[in-house]
Amino acid sequence: MACPRNHNWLPPDMKESIVSTTTNDQADETKIEPGTGHTRQTFLIGEQVYLRPIQSGDEKYAASWKQGIVRSSVSSAEKWIEEDLKDEESLHLMIVRKSDDRIVGSLVRDRWKHNIWIDGYIDPLFGDQGDLWLAEAYCMMLQWSVDEQHRLVASINRVPGNKPVILEKLEEIGARSSSIFHEAQRVGDAFIDWHIVTYLNKDWVRTLGDPYAIEKPRTGTGEPRPVIAPVDVEGDNLPLNAIRVGPRVYLRPLQKADAAKLVEWSRRETEPFWSSGRDVVAQTSAENWFERLGKTEPQTWVRFAVCLRENDEYIGSVGVDQIDYDNRCGESESEFHNVEYRSKGYGTEAKHLLFDYAFNTLGLHSLQSWVMYGNTRSAAALRKQGYKDVGIEPWLVRRDGGYECFGTYELLADEWRAMPRARVEEAGDLAG
Ligand SMILES: CC(C)(COP(=O)(O)OP(=O)(O)OC[C@H]1O[C@@H](n2cnc3c(N)ncnc32)[C@H](O)[C@@H]1OP(=O)(O)O)[C@@H](O)C(=O)NCCC(=O)NCCS
Repeated sequence: MACPRNHNWLPPDMKESIVSTTTNDQADETKIEPGTGHTRQTFLIGEQVYLRPIQSGDEKYAASWKQGIVRSSVSSAEKWIEEDLKDEESLHLMIVRKSDDRIVGSLVRDRWKHNIWIDGYIDPLFGDQGDLWLAEAYCMMLQWSVDEQHRLVASINRVPGNKPVILEKLEEIGARSSSIFHEAQRVGDAFIDWHIVTYLNKDWVRTLGDPYAIEKPRTGTGEPRPVIAPVDVEGDNLPLNAIRVGPRVYLRPLQKADAAKLVEWSRRETEPFWSSGRDVVAQTSAENWFERLGKTEPQTWVRFAVCLRENDEYIGSVGVDQIDYDNRCGESESEFHNVEYRSKGYGTEAKHLLFDYAFNTLGLHSLQSWVMYGNTRSAAALRKQGYKDVGIEPWLVRRDGGYECFGTYELLADEWRAMPRARVEEAGDLAG
């Protein structure tokens, strides 16, 4: 393939847009007449915007493309382009206005296994017009990634529910809201819904069938049970380092010595269905992992050891991952390493202690959860704990010569607070 930097490679109409030819790449960029930048590429060009890679000089518009709560300065954006961009695994593209080549936003494309995840940003100072540009950028990115690059599925990570124009434009190309997490995005004092919008490869739908037509497999009663709230423990009965104590179990921070137990039980795993098969865990990696978790400040993954009150045995872990302190949400997770302690309600009891910590100490407003279709027990446990089903994420993992979907779930702090509380003496029965 010819190098796009070589003018001989450009079709005649594109050459016209270049004011003067020069051998210096940087000079090429600066001498393009405003409004003709898109003529230097043949794809990822929409009606109003086009997408192109980040290049030196883009730092001038740092406030329009850098995401985050606080906008980046021009100098830090310049440093990032020069020093860090080359090491990025994600694909970063600029959203550029065709009429004058002004950068108005940016897209980041990430991969997870065979899936594509896209995050977008448009400078909010462009108002409603900006929403249309972002929608156009998303559509181009989805169609390019899926239809042209033959991927199974690509998703826009987060479309706020108060942007119907973006959702409508995405629907027009056949994408759909695959999960709607309610009140998972903060706007000032209010919380709005957050949509994951997913675009499927139509050829793969013909081969594999429509994933939305498959019913979520279910076990369990599907009924939420009263909350098993923390209990009051006094003096000597308080387990060492406990941060929440329930009728049968307590939560405490993970410590290095727990890694040995985790490794021991990972070698005795008998159930391959709840993840992508069984994992082999090395003790040093587990130890490093526990240490790493505590190193970020504030922690974006808080994970606790679940221990039996009767003998302090460490039987599992529960945590909140992907904590987003700005939107006050996070993803809950749980794993009972010792098979003997699964399906006996310990998971549910420990999760309620975790919810108490997440909502009342971390101040989160909502929790999300993702579960593979095959892991019906985990989904049943979530429903039992008060979670609601909010969607389907198609074909996220490979399984049995095909692909398996995930179910998505949510629990809002207010809903959890409004649930009935179990009496301490009946808590064990309700959990099991
Ligand atoms: C997921 C997990 C934390 C749930 O905790 P738990 O203590 O086992 O859950 P509970 O006993 O409170 O509830 C289990 C629910 O599943 C149902 N269930 C029990 N055993 C089951 C099985 N083998 N298959 C399917 N459903 C089952 C129960 O009926 C119950 O629902 P119900 O009370 O409404 O009838 C725990 O099983 C575990 O660690 N599993 C392995 C790791 C894992 O899957 N982690 C989650 C990844 S998303």
